[in-house]
Amino acid sequence: YLAEIDANDTEKGLYPHYMLKEIDEQPSVMRKIISTYTAENGSVAIDEHLVEKIAKSDRIYVVACGTSWHAGLVGKKMIEELANIPVEVHLASEIGYDMPLLSERPFFIFISQSGETADSRQVLVKVNELNLPSLTITNVKGSTLSREAENTLLLHAGPEIAVASTKAYTSQIAVMLYLAKAIGDYKNLKLAKSFDIAHELGLVASAMDTLVSEKDKLAEISRDYLLTTRNAFYIGRGLDYAVSLEGALKLKEISYIQTEGFAAGELKHGTIALIEKDTPVLAIITGEDTASHTRGNVKEVESRGAKTMVIAMEGLQKEGDQIIIPELHALLTPLATVVPLQLISYFACLQRDLDVDKPRNLAKSVTVE
Ligand code: G6P
Repeated sequence: YLAEIDANDTEKGLYPHYMLKEIDEQPSVMRKIISTYTAENGSVAIDEHLVEKIAKSDRIYVVACGTSWHAGLVGKKMIEELANIPVEVHLASEIGYDMPLLSERPFFIFISQSGETADSRQVLVKVNELNLPSLTITNVKGSTLSREAENTLLLHAGPEIAVASTKAYTSQIAVMLYLAKAIGDYKNLKLAKSFDIAHELGLVASAMDTLVSEKDKLAEISRDYLLTTRNAFYIGRGLDYAVSLEGALKLKEISYIQTEGFAAGELKHGTIALIEKDTPVLAIITGEDTASHTRGNVKEVESRGAKTMVIAMEGLQKEGDQIIIPELHALLTPLATVVPLQLISYFACLQRDLDVDKPRNLAKSVTVE
């Protein structure tokens, strides 16, 4: 069953849980974002004044919490590559109390699914007091962060009900990609101009279709690797590292398995001490430059007894890899690699008989600092 996305749809329909429905909606959300953000002449449909303002800044400060912060880590790479502006990604709960030294022409981007997160809002209040320009990227029109920032870009992901965020993450990344492309186009940068965003994201949507259809296999992997474990590690380098942080958060927040995401090369500087017989270590491998090093790290933990699993992109695939990601543009792999991680978490939660949509101690939107 493939879910269609509808802005007013807050029903589960035939789905047993919102989380599963929202994971399945991701290909449609991608297509919706493509049609919303691509103008008829093929250019990016984002207000030119906003694009110009950001293009003229000398540094972008991304502020967010939780999964939205993880999306920011991916967005940083996209903006730096396509728009050639340095980006710092900050946790709202940190930057609010400890503003870094700001550049001469800073621009603030707030990423928030709900648009109501108090930690992010308190930073925006300060940014407004300093009279600095800002943009909120949110799923909720008219939300507090949207009203109080100078500009808003909407995710068009439809309501996200499950506490564990899934389609908001992928849509935040896609919208930041459009923004990066728009700024790069405005600055006449070669890389941006030759980047066919609608085509590349179309390929992502198809890859997502394939990945969400692999539920049986992912449920089995989850049973094999996670059913009885108390901890798990996700590793990767570059964008694969950014996704390993999100994958680890997804698993820990709904299955209560202690899960950490690590930069693969950093494992040997301490964390490898935690590897015991059968400790699950999941590696994400989509970067041409980093693949062989991460493979080396997989070997290192295997020789210490870890039970390893690899998610690899087609062209980098090796025998024994468990999950294969269709070939995609190097900047866009997080949009695909996160999907099996979301599903593995979903099944790990079900297999432990836990509440998928409402994990303990968590709220969908956190309105206290
Ligand atoms: C809560 C949710 C997370 C979310 C975070 C930020 O902790 O449980 O899933 O990532 O808030 O929320 P926001 O609405 O600002 O993206």
